[in-house]
Amino acid sequence: MMLIGPFRQIMTLQGLAVKGPLRDSDLEVISEAGILIDKGRIMEIGVFSELKSQAKTIIETEGDQVLVPGLVDSHTHICYAGSRAKDYALKLSGAGYADILATGGGIHHTVSETRKAGYGELLYVTSGRLDRARRQGVTTCEIKSGYGLDIDTEFLMLQVIRELGCVSTCLAAHMLPESYGHPSAYLDHIRHELFPKLNDVGCNRVDMFWDDVAFHGDAAYAYLKTAKEGGFDLTIHADQFSRGGSRVAAELGARSADHLESISEEDLRFLAASDTAATVLPGACLGLGMEFPPARNLLDAGASLVIASDWNPGSAPNGQLLMQASILAMRQKLNTAETWAGITFRAAHALGLTDRGRLEPGYRADFVSFPVADIREILYVQGTCMPSHVWIKGERIV
Ligand code: NIG
Ligand code: FE
Repeated sequence: MMLIGPFRQIMTLQGLAVKGPLRDSDLEVISEAGILIDKGRIMEIGVFSELKSQAKTIIETEGDQVLVPGLVDSHTHICYAGSRAKDYALKLSGAGYADILATGGGIHHTVSETRKAGYGELLYVTSGRLDRARRQGVTTCEIKSGYGLDIDTEFLMLQVIRELGCVSTCLAAHMLPESYGHPSAYLDHIRHELFPKLNDVGCNRVDMFWDDVAFHGDAAYAYLKTAKEGGFDLTIHADQFSRGGSRVAAELGARSADHLESISEEDLRFLAASDTAATVLPGACLGLGMEFPPARNLLDAGASLVIASDWNPGSAPNGQLLMQASILAMRQKLNTAETWAGITFRAAHALGLTDRGRLEPGYRADFVSFPVADIREILYVQGTCMPSHVWIKGERIV
């Protein structure tokens, strides 16, 4: 048994609900605390001096440190090749997302770069980005395919994601490839040729960009329904530019509906009443210059509000989850408990993972220390306070 501490504070996030508003007064914060771990799992959390007798080894911390659960980033697209700095410059000059797509830029550009890259290059660049995320405290990272848009490249991306030990999601339904005239022919091809291979690569999640600029309507609905009936967990890029996706997500019992910048009042209530998590992606709003989604209203209506980075080469190149969550929190008035919940256990829940996101006996020993004396210092500096150490399954990786 190994004891790590003392920490000025440990914030466990124990006992907080998966849905709805939270109160800061319900946050469990233990002072002068330590954490006992064994075989990658948490055994006990308590006052450091009282845990010492149970420890075989002790890792003593230096100076002021606090400990929080590892961050869970439940929505990223970090497996890609190339850059879209050129598109970004066009956007700075006023071009819109759809204008760039229509001229062969946007997702199409990243698809052509990703198709050119082999396994080795994709693994190398993705692992570099994952490493950057880990240094920021992300201990569980979901990564989507979706820049292949053909069977072989989608499969290759999913192999890379598995090799990196991340949660994978098949986003072959990201955009209609330029070689296809009609969405239903492409979607049928994917469900017949790729779905049967997903188990081989450890992928049990299917995503779709449901939007006027991507997929919608009967063929899109049928695709998602087949995936659901085939046993896959669903998640949907929903209500980013046009409406309808979140309604479909909630109707089909998806794990999450992600984006929600354009959600209607009625769909907001429908989503909040369902078991589908409402995932907001402030990094995409920062990258596109859009207003944030109604995170406060979603919470107040009872939703499980998750905050993820959407890190991708186009709409969300920033990739700093804690910074994005801090800024969203101030704009939308999410309190400390609600903000941390959104990037830890609520995000884990949206991925179907029940063994992480809180510091609790039996949970994975995934946690992050920051060089401050009070938990509130972390959101206060809006993502510029970097972790001093990051542990995944009890191993210190940073
Ligand atoms: O989540 N909205 C669709 N997909 C991504 C953008 C991906 C890209 O532009 O490369 C998103 O924002
Ligand atoms: Fe996305």
